[in-house]
Amino acid sequence: MNRILVINGPNLNMLGIREPEIYGTGTYRELEENIRTWARELNLEVQIIQSNHEGDIIDAIQAAYKRIDGIIINPAGYTHTSVAIADALKAVGIPAVEVHLSDPDTREDFRKVSYIRPVCKATVKGKGFLGYKEALQILTCCR
Ligand code: DQA
Repeated sequence: MNRILVINGPNLNMLGIREPEIYGTGTYRELEENIRTWARELNLEVQIIQSNHEGDIIDAIQAAYKRIDGIIINPAGYTHTSVAIADALKAVGIPAVEVHLSDPDTREDFRKVSYIRPVCKATVKGKGFLGYKEALQILTCCR
């Protein structure tokens, strides 16, 4: 469990601008810097991508097959709609942790459904940027 792929879905590139009362004032660049620091501390190799496109996210998951040991995914809005991303995670069989900055379970009803949760070993939600640190720790606990 050394090579980790972090996938951030649609609109997360707008962090810092987007609904700061929900997602905080930290920018996407700061999130990436934090993840790189935490990964270094845990001796992990990390690759981080962000995409607003469902197909690109699926391509990244497929490309990880046999190349990546663990996936951290914040599917953002696709959490609540994407059977295809869930299928891709299932297809590659790479241990994955779902992360959400906010806690979707305490928000609108449509956010209470996650197609991704059943194909992940854990979900970390409502902890802001620190949720990604916890996800890295969850993945490293099994190496
Ligand atoms: C989110 C929660 C989703 O409901 C929302 O669509 C997002 C971000 C989160 O990180 O809290 O874009 O995944």
